[in-house]
Amino acid sequence: MQSIENNLGGGEGIEGLYGSITRTGTQKILASMVEHCGLGSESSLVDVGAGLGRPLLHALVYPGVKATLGVELDEIKVQKARVFLKQSVQRVQRKGLLPEDLELPMMQCAAIEEVASLERCTHAYSFWEGVPIPAREAFGKLVARSDGVQGVAVIQRAMRDPEGAMLSLGFGQLSLRASFPVSMSGSGRSFTAYVFAREAPALRRAADSAVQGGLAAMRQTKPGAAAARAADKLGKPDRESRSARRALIMSADKTYTQQAADALNQAQHVAAETWEATKNKVSEVTGAAQNRAEETKNDATSHQSGVRGLVDDAKNKATELGNRASEKTTEAKHSAQESTNKAANIADEKARQ
Ligand SMILES: C[S@@+](CC[C@H](N)C(=O)[O-])C[C@H]1O[C@@H](n2cnc3c(N)ncnc32)[C@H](O)[C@@H]1O
Repeated sequence: MQSIENNLGGGEGIEGLYGSITRTGTQKILASMVEHCGLGSESSLVDVGAGLGRPLLHALVYPGVKATLGVELDEIKVQKARVFLKQSVQRVQRKGLLPEDLELPMMQCAAIEEVASLERCTHAYSFWEGVPIPAREAFGKLVARSDGVQGVAVIQRAMRDPEGAMLSLGFGQLSLRASFPVSMSGSGRSFTAYVFAREAPALRRAADSAVQGGLAAMRQTKPGAAAARAADKLGKPDRESRSARRALIMSADKTYTQQAADALNQAQHVAAETWEATKNKVSEVTGAAQNRAEETKNDATSHQSGVRGLVDDAKNKATELGNRASEKTTEAKHSAQESTNKAANIADEKARQ
């Protein structure tokens, strides 16, 4: 790359300071953005004050971002950047480190104050040494207004209160995730890289609506509604959706679509889990009720058979007594007949005498 830059007569232009952070430093900054604010293969990175576009080229190779935009005020640098990027990309492509159909970084020749929006950008980088305060404020306003920017890295001399300084430049609330020393290529001058994460509103909205969509879809089915009611009682969906949302916002290295799909999956997963838990509970309760019913039935059956035994006993006893009574009646009849016969014989005897 250095030989290409040398052939162009160096990176200088007619405006501002020129210089880049060393390759090692740039790698460290990008890795920190990957780790702390989701820079990745679906990201689009803007470099405010892009110079020849070195950091953008680096980001295309590592971590292999999807799109890059350079905003550079100095038209000489922009002209040089277009040649530098084209030749450098071709060289890297020949080594097989970049795909053939790669989109070159787009270089916009403008002061950042003239840029209307950063709407398509997910991450922003600026080695803004020598960039005046009003330009930094214009950058801050663009980030604050953007729906998509979720990570910002700035390189400058060490500052005392980085979040406060960014707030006063109009960036809104950023959260400092890392800061470390880096040095300038060539001169070796020392600077500090600050990596901030930002909860992008679009991301938050996409995650919220996906979670709500998932929960609504779940509630539309009868069992889902029952499961939701059961889970509502435990406060589960709320807890789950909040943590799902937090996880989504933290894992901001994916596209919104991917995140929305993830959120939906997650919500569906919660629904499925809740439904599964409710189903298990229902089958547990039903099982217990069935066992209880079975036990009661068995109790009743044994009770019934006990009663039936008693009735049978009573019946047998009654039959026995009946039999005995009829035996006694027969006996009495016989003895009465005998007595009658005896009396008749005696009477006949008396009459004959
Ligand atoms: C320190 S150089 C960084 C170059 C490049 N980002 C890199 O790291 O290799 C800062 C660049 O910001 C540019 N610059 C200064 N003021 C600017 C403004 N208001 N809008 C856009 N670019 C500006 C300068 O021309 C210069 O090229």
